[in-house]
Amino acid sequence: MNILVTGGAGFIGSHTLIELYKAGHTALVVDNLYNSKEEALTRVAGILDIDHIPFVKADIRDREALEKVFSTNTFDACIHFAGLKAVGESVAKPLEYYENNMNGTFVLLDVMRRHNCKNIIFSSSATVYGDPAIIPITEDCPKGQCTNPYGQTKSMLEQVMIDLQKADTEWNVVLLRYFNPIGAHPSGRIGENPNGIPNNLMPYITQVAVGKRESLGVFGNDYPTHDGTGVRDYIHVVDLATAHVAALQAIERKQGLAVYNIGTGHGYSVLDVVNTFMKVNNLTIPYQIKPRRAGDIATCYCNPAKAEKELGWKAQYGLEEMCRDSWNWQRNNPNGY
Ligand code: NAD
Ligand code: UFG
Repeated sequence: MNILVTGGAGFIGSHTLIELYKAGHTALVVDNLYNSKEEALTRVAGILDIDHIPFVKADIRDREALEKVFSTNTFDACIHFAGLKAVGESVAKPLEYYENNMNGTFVLLDVMRRHNCKNIIFSSSATVYGDPAIIPITEDCPKGQCTNPYGQTKSMLEQVMIDLQKADTEWNVVLLRYFNPIGAHPSGRIGENPNGIPNNLMPYITQVAVGKRESLGVFGNDYPTHDGTGVRDYIHVVDLATAHVAALQAIERKQGLAVYNIGTGHGYSVLDVVNTFMKVNNLTIPYQIKPRRAGDIATCYCNPAKAEKELGWKAQYGLEEMCRDSWNWQRNNPNGY
């Protein structure tokens, strides 16, 4: 299939491009490079040993630019990664987040249907469950109260696409609720490249390891978990990438609407991650216990059985590989791209 990949220069998009091409698909990326570098696409092409990845630098809110992309290409489906994703920033800049994520998706969906491309895979998030009512989380767990505008955009956009598919059943909509993607391509040539001080755990750890930050703050050790620190379902970004290839197969089978949790089903605490990182990479990560971070929950991990049953997809990598590959990327690229 030929796939439009919005936000394809970003962390998850760049890894997904590799798995798409490996599975025999082709892609064109539309990205405004707000949170990424074109160099990522050059490296993806290098890993794949191809000349280049077709790329249009454009904002998906720019209807004219998207119309032009669709008039000059034929797409079988779109994988829609483009969006702003920093939880804390979304609290400080709600209008910017709602505007970018909602309007970008509205324009994209409208241009898609005008060009009769009615297959979409959407990057949703475990954040839609809020403080989950059921652990491990299954897809029928009720959506919860999102504590930030970023999470609200994911929850609302899911609903927009559910309603769209209900109104026009020619649409195939696959909502992938990602848990916590970490790791990097085993080549160490592409990986996560956050701007400024990392918000997320793994990039913070790797920046401490590489000497850019002094010590990790562990946000709370009084949660009701096995060691008091927050528990999450970390998933290797390459596994996350292959889930998109599996979701495309579901689209080929005309699945209609489908929702999947994309995680490993294992919950690891902050200290489990720190200790595994130190052991696997033979490094010391100094850390200090800090107060809880506002909006954080104690425990979040999924039951990924539905994706395995219906998509034939299952995560292959464990926490050790995630820690090894995150460090391999950071060590080889101390300043990112
Ligand atoms: P990322 O920031 O690395 O990638 C997103 C890409 O979208 C960037 O390259 C950015 O430049 C681009 N972009 C943003 N707004 C755009 C616009 N209006 N027009 C064109 N391009 C635009 O983020 P990521 O970690 O790769 O995440 C990809 C998707 O997955 C996002 O939608 C994110 O919300 C979602 N997600 C991420 C996580 C995570 O922890 N990384 C978890 C759950 C869901
Ligand atoms: N943490 C620390 N210190 C840090 C950073 C994080 O102790 O410097 C802790 C957090 O308190 C939490 C755990 O590490 O217990 C994971 O935190 P992250 O910020 O890495 O990830 P979150 O689970 O908070 O959120 C991430 C994304 C969201 C997404 C969610 C579920 O940032 O966008 O995963 O997919 F919605």
